[in-house]
Amino acid sequence: MYDIFLVGNATMDLIFSGLPRMPILGEDTFADKFEYTPGEAFINAVTMHRLGLKVAWAADFGNDLFSNLILVEVRKAGLSEAYFIHHDHPFRRVSVSASFQDDRGFLTHYDLEPPLSATLKALPCVEAKAIFIPGLIHGLILDAAVPIVKMKKMQILMDGNCPKEFSHESNSISRALKQVDVFLPNAKEARSLSGYENLEDAARKLSEFCPLVVLKDGEKGALAYDRETMYHLPGITVNPLDTTGAGDCFSSGFVKAWIDGKPIRECLAWGNICGGLSTLGFGGTTFFIDEQVIKVNMAKHYPNIEISSLMM
Ligand SMILES: Nc1ncnc2c1ncn2[C@@H]1O[C@H](COP(=O)(O)OP(=O)(O)O)[C@@H](O)[C@H]1O
Ligand SMILES: [Mg+2]
Repeated sequence: MYDIFLVGNATMDLIFSGLPRMPILGEDTFADKFEYTPGEAFINAVTMHRLGLKVAWAADFGNDLFSNLILVEVRKAGLSEAYFIHHDHPFRRVSVSASFQDDRGFLTHYDLEPPLSATLKALPCVEAKAIFIPGLIHGLILDAAVPIVKMKKMQILMDGNCPKEFSHESNSISRALKQVDVFLPNAKEARSLSGYENLEDAARKLSEFCPLVVLKDGEKGALAYDRETMYHLPGITVNPLDTTGAGDCFSSGFVKAWIDGKPIRECLAWGNICGGLSTLGFGGTTFFIDEQVIKVNMAKHYPNIEISSLMM
């Protein structure tokens, strides 16, 4: 029995920072710093694993250089490969990030998903408390998977990561959100999905579909709404190096606390600590966070969680 069934692929993130400005057409832009590190579901897999969750991660890998580089990092992190599929063709997922202190812009390429993905193959086999979907997916595949997930009594947790703007007015999206137990978009995603600028209004709107909505709001921290109470928790104070993957780390930290049955306020603190600390390293996993690190930072940043949230 696993804690989390994680579905979704990794990317190889090439992170350029120390940039004078965003690249512009016709000009060369030089970055003082460059790092590469896997992103997307890899960040969830590693962060949840380091926090002590038992993670069944289903992911596809090709025979290309980037897949191989990701696998090297998977092995360094000691993740289980039980639900990986290795294809004998390239499956390239690459993201170039122009990273600035507060935000970043991406240039991304994904090769087409294999028709029989690792997720579909693993779905009938894995037993877990919850499934974590690292981005807003909707449509046929989700509709087909949900009955199996529900039959297995897994809760459905979904990050809001999405490559373009979506609205809840899309039938396929509202149908997807109605299946989700915990939805974790960032502020931009929540605004575009709900049609509301104010984040509390956005959370209320999204909670019409999903019983627990958690909104990530960069350095301001996060808020959650469970159809009864609006919870706010300010972010931890950090001097960020690179914010790539902060949202994925937040979600992983929140989910760890939520799986352990902690109150929502404390789950938000776990999320803010993971998201905030992740900005101190490049990508989402170079800053190491385990339960001990959470404990130290909980005492430092949220000595009294009740008081911190009431202060907002
Ligand atoms: N500059 C920052 N200072 C403190 N915490 C941050 C900062 N940037 C991000 N975080 C933490 O990471 C979380 C996710 O970041 P955010 O930028 O909102 O999501 P995403 O990475 O999905 O765009 C925030 O809710 C917060 O907890
Ligand atoms: Mg995100």
